[in-house]
This record gives sequence, structure tokens and C-alpha cells, in this order.
Amino acid sequence: MSTVDDVRERTDIVDLIGSYVQLQRAGRNYKGLCPFHTEKTPSFIVFPESQRWHCFGACSTGGDVFSFIMRRENMDFGEALRLLAERAGVELEPLSVGAIEGREERDRLREINAAAAQHYHRLLMESRAGEAARQYLARRGVTQETMVTFQLGYAPDEWRSAEGHLAPIYGHEDLLTAGIISQSDRGGHYDRFRNRLMFPIRDSQGHVIGFGGRVLDDSVPKYLNSPDTPLFDKGSVLYGIDLAREAIRESGTVVVVEGYMDVVVPYQFGVRNLVACLGTALTESHIQLLRRMVRVLILALDPDAAGIRATERGIETAQHALDRKTVPVLTPSGAVRYESRLDAEVRVLALPDGLDPDELVLQDRERWDQLVAEAQPVAEYFFRRVLAEEEVETAKGKANVVERLMPVIAAIENPAERQHYLQLLARRVRVDDVQLQPALDRARRGAAGGSRPAIRRPAPPPAPAPAAGGAERPTVLDLEGRVVALLYAYPGLVVDARDVARLRPDVFRHATNRAAYDAICALYEREGASHAPTGSLDTALRGHVESLLHALEEGPSLSLDTAREDLVKSAIRLRQVQLSEFLRELRFLLQDAQEQGDAEQVRQLNVLIDRCTKEHLEIHRQSYAVTLLGRSRKGSD
Ligand code: UTP
Ligand code: MN
Repeated sequence: MSTVDDVRERTDIVDLIGSYVQLQRAGRNYKGLCPFHTEKTPSFIVFPESQRWHCFGACSTGGDVFSFIMRRENMDFGEALRLLAERAGVELEPLSVGAIEGREERDRLREINAAAAQHYHRLLMESRAGEAARQYLARRGVTQETMVTFQLGYAPDEWRSAEGHLAPIYGHEDLLTAGIISQSDRGGHYDRFRNRLMFPIRDSQGHVIGFGGRVLDDSVPKYLNSPDTPLFDKGSVLYGIDLAREAIRESGTVVVVEGYMDVVVPYQFGVRNLVACLGTALTESHIQLLRRMVRVLILALDPDAAGIRATERGIETAQHALDRKTVPVLTPSGAVRYESRLDAEVRVLALPDGLDPDELVLQDRERWDQLVAEAQPVAEYFFRRVLAEEEVETAKGKANVVERLMPVIAAIENPAERQHYLQLLARRVRVDDVQLQPALDRARRGAAGGSRPAIRRPAPPPAPAPAAGGAERPTVLDLEGRVVALLYAYPGLVVDARDVARLRPDVFRHATNRAAYDAICALYEREGASHAPTGSLDTALRGHVESLLHALEEGPSLSLDTAREDLVKSAIRLRQVQLSEFLRELRFLLQDAQEQGDAEQVRQLNVLIDRCTKEHLEIHRQSYAVTLLGRSRKGSD
């Protein structure tokens, strides 16, 4: 699939256009006021099924998500693609010479892997040498059809099978890079996989990117995998993802298992929302592959201790990666605060002793469904398990329980839930939960400090702006600065500031902020959203803007959508705060005028106050509408 298709597939047109135009459902479609011409009755229609839009009014044109963005944001195709790619979380390759070479190399490696998979597969299905492997698979319950579905293969007990077959076509160098062959000390080449059952590992688009090869007996290593290549990174691959995608999307649930066979055999029995993480702990890249598709992530554990430990690490990663959907919310005091919302829930499926998922499904398919249904939320699972294993009556046992459960509790993002489990723990070890609080705080700091460098954690939400007296009320300048910073970080949002939040330059109190706002608006008018916006500023202004940008970067990284929401909310809030201050001033003036008996001034001030009060009310309605819009967008995706 091309990047363009990938971006298109991951962009929902209703969601996208709904963030620019207020859409109402009209049968199977949506309609709204056309954003490209002025009209009073809606003639702009969005078709979710074909993922297209059309204006039946004055424009009488239409298109897809790209053409919408190009017109609305005044962008060329490349810019629209970049914007939508960022929004969809699709990585675009920069087209440097190196990148192009890299892409060509990856294309060659894909071809080699595909050819090798076909070679091994034919040997499994047809050769005499493959007989033992066929029998092995049959013993483990795998049918012919499944062998084809997973393109299972057999690497014969020879030194030059794949080499002899593939080297004349692809050359030794690329075969070495692909990890199909190895090089001996004396410079000769030989097959990496010999006498092994071959599992081609495919990416989510179905390209073979590497292999796992299993011995047919008890020799070691049991599995030999492809080395890491430009295509294959063992730590971020999910075996079976290409075949599982649909079932995962449909059910919103994925079960992560440990091995190849744990995916293959259940698939044959109709259990299709399974992927395996190749024996490694779950990493953040695994989660990134899944997070758009899942509401519930179930980890199916090997019940042995090592498995549990690997899973404990996996759970932490999963929770952190899934929990952090950072959403800006307006607090009553006017701060824009970041809230982490739970994106998906992590549960643990405890396998009965000594049974892997493949064996379990073979024995009793219904039992599997039952275990999936009974999978427990992570914290509950560990509470049960640890309390069963430790002697909670003894001092040592208590200490162990606290030590083992504290990281689990610390990993819970939701504060109410976290506190609930802390109290539960306190009751079980019979201490006051206040006494456990410092340990929890330490554990949370430890987790946030990145003690496991392999896991890239998003920055924690920013502390509320410090203000006199320690209150968390932000100053007007904080809001002004935030708006300016967001506009410079995402120049395309100028449109939202002006048209959605109806931000006017005179709202800014701070002259530098106002100048910066004027400059970015003018720049956007001239150049569109694509320019490095601080370049054309004079030095003083640039220093100011850069320090604001710096402060913004210290917070969590924002998707374009989140930034837009943040900007609109901050801008509306800014108008609100300014207006209430203005109203307060007017009331003082009114008081003065009344005391002095200046009837004309009283009348004028009353008119002004009336107008401001109305505007204030209007802003209030508007901010409410923006909040609702944001919510309904989130709720429906
Ligand atoms: P297991 O040892 O649990 O194997 O390793 P398994 O999946 O149950 O395999 P079967 O059922 O005996 O055939 C789990 C996973 O860890 C990786 C493989 O991906 C395996 O599927 N692994 C294991 C290796 O990469 N190398 C090894 O030597 C062992
Ligand atoms: Mn197994």
C-alpha cells in the first residue's frame, strides 16, 4: 500500500471535515454549510461510505480528504499529505538521496524474503525432504490449508539450498543483509536456516520481512529468527498482524500471545484476533501498531515465572502507551490542563498450567472463549496473584506484597483508580494508606524517570503555571503566550484562531504577543502554512516567540488535532478572560459616573456593558459548543 493510500485509509472524512465544518447527519450522509462559499442553507455533503465530499451549491465541486485539505488550508498536495499523515500518525519518508536508496534496498529485501518464503513453502508442501516437517505439523494439529494461509515452509538439512536457489538471482550481498545466508570465516556462504520448520513473518500489509525457524526435535536453539535488517526489527514485529487486522478491528480486542504456533493453530479454529510478540516483552512499538484498532488488549501469559515477569514489563509498557491520550481540557479556573484519557484497557488472560494457547484451543475451543471473557484487569490480576503467593500475615510477606504491587499501582494513570488500589493494598497489609502514599509517589517518579531506556515515554503533563500564592490560576499572559506559541508551531491554525475562536488582535494585552500574532497572520496570508514562521521576524520578536515555543515544547507533544483543540479553547478562554476584566473596569466606571451624577456617561456605559455582557454570553455558548464538538468527535471515533 502506498503512503497516500495508508493515510487515506486512516483518515475518516467525517471526522476530518467535522473539525472544520459543523456537520449534521442526513440519512447515511452528513451535511453542513459549505466552507468554500458563503451560504445560509447547507448544500455541502459528506459521504462516509465513499469517503468523499461535494458542494451542491455555488461551488458544485467535490473531492476526497486530500482535496478538502488542499482547498481549506490552501496547501499543495505534498503539504496536505504531510498534514494528514501527521494527523493519522503515518510516518512519511523524507525523500533525500539516502531515503530513496534506503527504500530501494527495502524493496529488494522484500523481494528476497518473498522469494525465500516461496522456496521454503514449496519444499514443505512438495518435497520428500519436507515429509518430516509435514508430519510434525500434522501432529500439532495444523492442516494443509493453514500451512498455505501462513505460507509455512521447510528449510532442508543442507548448506546451500536457499543459497543455490536465490544467489544467482539476487546476489550474495543482499542475501546476507536479508539474513537468508551467513558467511563463514573463510568467506564462503551457507544457509542460515537448516532443517527447520519455517514461519514467514509478515508486516501488517502482508509483506514477508523475516523468518522464524523451529527445530523439529528438542535441539537448541528451538527457534532461530532472522537477524535485524532494515525491514525486520524483532522488537516491533507482531506475528500474524496481517491476518488478524480485520478481526481485531471488528472486535476492538486483541489477544497477545507468545509464540508462532499460538497464532497459527487458533487461527485455524476461527480465533483470529491473535498476534504474537516473538517471545520478547511487549514494546511501545508493538502497542503503536495496535492502538488505533483496539479498545481492549489482552495478554495471554505463559504461567511460568519467567513468562510472568516478561508480561509484567509488557503490561507496564502497554498501560503507559495506551493510557496517554493527552487531551486539553478547560478547567473552571481557566487553565488549559492536559488530561490523560484511557484509550484502551489492558487485561490479563491466565492460561491454565502448562498449556499454551495452541494446545488449549486444540483441546477445547470453548474453554478459550471463556478464558478470554474472564480476562481480568491488570491490577486485579496481580493483586490476586501476589496475595496468593505471599504470606501476608508476616512482616516479610507484607513487605514483599507492597514491593511487588506498588509498581502495578503506580502504572495506573487514572488517579481515582490508582487511589482505589492503594487503599485496597493498605487494607490487605493492614497499614494506613497514608503511610503507603510516599512509596507510591516514589514509584510513580521512578516510572516517569525512564529507568528502562528502551521505553520511550511521552513527557508528563506540564505542571500548572506557577502563580503568586501557589494558586493554579494562569495569568492572561500565559494564555496569550500559549496561543501565540501554538500558532507558530502550527501556522495552519491561524484559520481556526480567526474563524473558529474569532480571535482579534486587540485581545492581546502584551504588545509583543500582539505583534507576534499580527506577524503570523500576515505571514499566513502571504505564504500559507508551510513556512518556517520565525525566520522573517525581527530579532526581538523572534527571541520572544522562540522562548514561547520552547515552553510549549516542554509540554507533551501534540498532534495537530490536539493542538487545534487546545488553540481554540485557549483563544476562546482568552477572549473570555479579557472581556470579564473589561466588564469589571466598566462597572467601576459606571459606579464613578453614577456617583458624579453624569447621566449621559451612565447611559453610554450601560450600553457598552450590555453589549459586552451579550458577547460574554455568546463566548460562553461558543466555548460550550466547542467542548461538545470535541467530545462528540472523540466519542464517535
Ligand atoms: P516458547 O519456547 O514458548 O515456544 O517461545 P512456543 O511458541 O511455545 O513454541 P512451540 O509451541 O514449542 O513450538 C515463545 C516464542 O519465543 C520465541 C519464538 O518466537 C517463540 O514462538 N523464541 C523462543 C525464540 O525466538 N527463540 C527460542 O529459542 C525460543
Ligand atoms: Mn507452544
